[in-house]
Order: sequence, then C-alpha cells, then structure tokens
Amino acid sequence: MARYFKYKSADDLVQDAARLGSELSVQDNLAPLFEPTTVAGRRVGNRLLIQPMEGCDGTLDGAPAELTYRRYLRFGAGGAKVIWGEATAITPEARANTRQLWIAPQTAAALGRMLDGARQAHRDAGYETDDLLIGLQLTHSGRYSVPRPWLATHDPLLAPLTFDKTTGKPIDGTYPLLSDDDLQRIEDQYVAAARLAHQIGCDFVDLKQCHRYLLSELLAARNRPGRYGGSFENRTRLILNVVQRIRQEVPGLIIASRFNAYDGVPHRGVGQGDDFVGRPVPHQLPLECAWGTDLHEPAREQLDEPIALARALVAAGVSFLNVTLGNPYSNPHFVRPAEFPPVDGYHAPEHPLLGVLRHFRIAAAIQQAVPGTPVAGSGYSWLQDFAPQAAAANVAGGRITFAGFGRATLSHPDFARSLAETGQFNRKLVCRTFSYCTGLMRAKDHPLGQYPTGCPPFDKEAYGDLWKEVEQKRKPAPPR
Ligand SMILES: Cc1cc2nc3c(=O)[nH]c(=O)nc-3n(C[C@H](O)[C@H](O)[C@H](O)COP(=O)(O)O)c2cc1C
Ligand code: SF4
Repeated sequence: MARYFKYKSADDLVQDAARLGSELSVQDNLAPLFEPTTVAGRRVGNRLLIQPMEGCDGTLDGAPAELTYRRYLRFGAGGAKVIWGEATAITPEARANTRQLWIAPQTAAALGRMLDGARQAHRDAGYETDDLLIGLQLTHSGRYSVPRPWLATHDPLLAPLTFDKTTGKPIDGTYPLLSDDDLQRIEDQYVAAARLAHQIGCDFVDLKQCHRYLLSELLAARNRPGRYGGSFENRTRLILNVVQRIRQEVPGLIIASRFNAYDGVPHRGVGQGDDFVGRPVPHQLPLECAWGTDLHEPAREQLDEPIALARALVAAGVSFLNVTLGNPYSNPHFVRPAEFPPVDGYHAPEHPLLGVLRHFRIAAAIQQAVPGTPVAGSGYSWLQDFAPQAAAANVAGGRITFAGFGRATLSHPDFARSLAETGQFNRKLVCRTFSYCTGLMRAKDHPLGQYPTGCPPFDKEAYGDLWKEVEQKRKPAPPR
C-alpha cells in the first residue's frame, strides 16, 4: 500500500495539496501560535491546545489511576495553554469502556487531584498558571456505551455496526430508543456533572457532541419522533437546555463544546491485506440521519446546520468551540487522518492530506460564522513535523483561534515547549500516525476489560510492554 508522507519540507506539502486540487497554507513564522488570546474573558497564554485524548486507564469505578495521572502531569509540564481533558462519563451507563473516567461524588476528589497535578506540573516546569485553561469533556456514549447501547435514534446504516455486548449481537430496528423522559433525565445528569466539575476546579466543561456519541447522534436524529427529533429545533433542544441550565446554575464555569460539523457515511473494509480499503456501506439517498452532510451526496459537507448550531450555542452561553468530524468506529479516516490504519482497521479510501484539509476547511467555516468566539481545529497530527507551519498559518489567517493536537501529544507531550525553544518539534518524538494507540484502545482482552492506551513507539517506558502483550494475544495459537 502506498505510503503518503514523503515530504521533505512544508512546501512539498503545499504542492501535493495543489496536485490534489486543494489549497494548504503554511508559514515559517510561528509567532502567531504564541500570541495570547482570551476565552470567556480569561487570558490564555498560547494557541496550542491538547485535544481530549482518552487513556482508557481509569479504575473500574471511574477514577484516574497511575497512567492517567502520568498523562496529565506530562500534559501540564509540556507548555500548551489549553488542556482539553478527555471523555469523562456523566453516569456509569454513559461509559464507552470499563476504564473510562466517570465524574461522580466518589471520584470527584481524585479527578480534582489530577487537574491540580497538571497545574502544578505546569508551574514546576516554569510556566505561570493564570493563563492555563483545563477542562473535562463530559460525555454520554449513547450508541457506544458498554455493556449495552443507548440509542437516540434508529440509524439504519449504523445499526448493523452497533453491538450489544450483553448479547454479543448487532442491534436492529426493534432495539428500544431512549424515551423523551430518559433524555430529560440526561439533561439533569449533565448539569449535575458540570456542577461537580466546577467544584473540583475545572476551568471549563465540554459538552461533547461529536463522534456519534449520544449528543452527536441526537443532532442527526431527523427520523426520531417526539420532542428531541425531527426538526433542527428539536434535535438541538437537549444541548441548548443543558447550556442554559449550566449558565444559570453553575455561574463562573466556562461552557465549551466539541461538536461534529460533518458525520459522513459509515464505511466498512472491503478486500484483503493491503487492499482492505474502507468503502461506504450500501446506502439509500437521501440519507435518513446524518449531520453536516449533504444527504444527497454524502461525500460533501453541508454546513448550514452546524453553522446554525454554532451560533445558537454561542447565543445560549457557550464561549469555546472545538470542531471535529466523523465517527471513530465507522469512518475513522474522517476523524484522524493516518498513514497506517490500526491492525484490524481498513486502509483509508482517500489521501490522508485530503482528510486534513477537510478538517481545516470545515473548522474555518465555523470560525468564520462565529468570529467573536474561539474555535479550535482538529486533525493536525498527520502533518507530522510540518503541523506547526500549517497551524501558524491557520491562526494567522483567522481560520481558527487554537490549533488542537491529538495523537501528536501522546508521542510528544512537551511539543509546545519544543516549539517555543527550538522552533520545531523534537524529531525523535513526532507522531507518525502508526495507529498503535487506536489498536490499544480497541484491545479489550484485559482483566479489567480494557487495555490502557498511549504511544508504544515513542513512549516505550509506559506502553512498550503493553503493546507486546496485546500483539502476543492477537497471534493465532500454534497448531497442535
Ligand atoms: C487514543 C485516542 C483517544 C482519543 N480520545 C478522545 C476523547 O476522549 N475525546 C474526543 O473527543 N476525541 C478523542 N480522540 C480524538 C482526538 O481528540 C483527535 O480528534 C483525533 O486524534 C484527530 O486529531 P490528531 O490528528 O491531532 O490526532 C482520541 C483519539 C485517539 C487516537
Ligand atoms: S501510537 Fe504513537 S505514533 Fe502511533 S499514532 Fe498513536 S501517538 Fe502516533
């Protein structure tokens, strides 16, 4: 299979983008990345943002454990001024894996220590903390909850790809939906989780509406009956109710939201070996439920609703947005353009640079729609050593306010320090998008039901042996 990333300079990337019929801006002057800005009136020291990166390494009751603390200490010490804490479930049934963080009275103190630890590490590394923002991403995993899915709607394309772990079978059109009353209770649960998050020292909470977890699925629930489905007004009812209530009931807490601006159509791998390539699942047009997607031509984004959502969120009191795309289970190439798929994943059906440019284009459209509100963009890691030049050009051009780094932070948590001190990433730690981290995240054959994830190639000390163990378990048993 072709390897894509063969660039010697940022200009090579620009030329390749042009060859692919697109435009990429880069600049060598990285100063825009170090210009302070404000979020909800709070000064933030630079434009480098650590995206939510779940480590799947909490305790069974949802508290951070050793590797979780380690990750946040490393993030704190690294110099990025926004640490967008990872997916943290609002209730036990909202968890996407058995080791996902869960914010509750019994885990609050430990989560607070994790945030304090990150701030202390930032201070110990010589940075001031007044201009550092740390938050948590509040999530309900909905369709991807374990052990059983909780559906907002019947998505005919996702149903055969959605497994009920209590039966081991995919669900079908008879699977029960969350009722309107259930969703109203979930509104209460979000508000309670936000209150706790404020008490333990979160500067902000992210009301997660991405990657087709519950609130993201609701945005696409065109075919759901009742108060929370059908019209745009109904599909955005839950999120806007939650925002308004948090604003009233938890004053002082900054409200943020990471949302999908494009869902696309689910894909499935077709073919063998290197030719195992992601292809759209068979589907009828217009699509029944998708968000930010042209229902007649789903390869194209249709941003009128995501733009209307961004404006409605801001009007309701959200002061920080983070734009992402796709579904990590059914079209991961939209979420995280990669050079190599995870071991059991399909090869991307498109050049990863096109995936990166889709992220840039869509985040820019959202930022343009809400010019007074900071927007973070995603999807930078595939650009490897040249991500900073692209990030600087996007910030300088006003196309985003913050450049969000995902996988790049697992391999190189002190990327911001390195950029400030040397003008480049540490070449020995640059994420090469090998997808081992995704492989670990998908590995469930562990006594706690979930392997922790991190970066085995560049953080061998913590993840090297775990990766070997997973590889060993994956090997077929020798013939007897
Ligand atoms: C191991 C791993 C964990 C992730 N955890 C989260 C998460 O908790 N919440 C979230 O919104 N996205 C999560 N993501 C997606 C990333 O935040 C990011 O959007 C994606 O990796 C693309 O950005 P990148 O190209 O910089 O990696 C995760 C991705 C990976 C690989
Ligand atoms: S395992 Fe490491 S190098 Fe590979 S994609 Fe994840 S962070 Fe990047």
